[in-house]
Amino acid sequence: MTTYTTAWKSPSNIALVKYWGKKPEGVQIPSNASISFTLSNCATTTKLTFTEQEDLEITVLLEGKEEPDFIPKIEQFLHRISRIFSFVLKGKYTVDTSNSFPHSSGIASSASGMSALSLCICDIAKEKGLLAEEDFNQTASILARLGSGSASRSVYGPMGQWGEHSDYEGSSDEFAIPYSDINSVYADYCDTILLVHRGQKTVSSTVGHGLLTDNPYAPARFAQAQENMTAMKAILKSGDLDAFIALVESEALTLHSLMMSSNPYFILMKPNTLKIIEAIWEKREKDGVKWCFTLDAGANVHFLYPQADKVAAQDFINEELAQYCENGAFIHDEVGMGSERI
Ligand code: DP6
Repeated sequence: MTTYTTAWKSPSNIALVKYWGKKPEGVQIPSNASISFTLSNCATTTKLTFTEQEDLEITVLLEGKEEPDFIPKIEQFLHRISRIFSFVLKGKYTVDTSNSFPHSSGIASSASGMSALSLCICDIAKEKGLLAEEDFNQTASILARLGSGSASRSVYGPMGQWGEHSDYEGSSDEFAIPYSDINSVYADYCDTILLVHRGQKTVSSTVGHGLLTDNPYAPARFAQAQENMTAMKAILKSGDLDAFIALVESEALTLHSLMMSSNPYFILMKPNTLKIIEAIWEKREKDGVKWCFTLDAGANVHFLYPQADKVAAQDFINEELAQYCENGAFIHDEVGMGSERI
């Protein structure tokens, strides 16, 4: 009855071209390719203790306190990945996890949490002689995808690309790949997450993805996303910020328009989400700044700006945008280099 202990820190990520919709065949296969900035400060640290035993037993600690609500999701994850590593269903787990951001912040911890846990499991598989070093990251990304699609991209920095696309060499629906063919302006791009609404989301991402099956706009969207991936590749290479802004904002609003056109329809934006968007547009119009927003599946706004504009953009946050955040809260983050063993 061997015991294994390992720990990983894995960051959150923010998609520029969004994953929204899964193929009906396979498990966790995206309907279109996506690409994201890997973040740096928003991260989950997970320490895993695994003791071999006949049955499956899971204890989850969140910030040191027992959190049984997470167990069903982890159990489902372990069942999914048992086709890759059958040992995972025979053990006693203590998953000791903590987030650098408050749990109630409305920041999804599934990407960082699932990738941290996947990397821990790969460590155990490696120690057991079931995983070679050269397959480590790819396997971790496959496991992470099975936990939460966007988690597949969190393994790598500065960007992660997931989903088959002819313009992205080595891309796959099964795992994400690191992406770094980018202009230096993006290597340390800033993302301040404006915390508009800290409550639970009314519709989870997983349910939202499912609603695309019957959405009449879905096929057009999937085709558009593939085209946007082509455009994004050129934008990332050239550093054309005007084109970057136009594509990133369109992707964010398209994501939310898909939610609004689903059946049942739903809206995750809040009035202050729109106030922030308007304030950013006004500022851009007035001062010609190259600042923009994106959204994930929630009300919070990711405010994106170049590192060179940090002081001015953060002044703008304090003076204009913070008023629309719940309790004035936001988190400064920037592009980071991916997951690390600790
Ligand atoms: C809007 O990865 O959270 O953030 O695979 O069902 O766990 P599941 O969904 P999830 O969806 C993320 C959707 C998104 C866009 C993106 O990150 O690409």
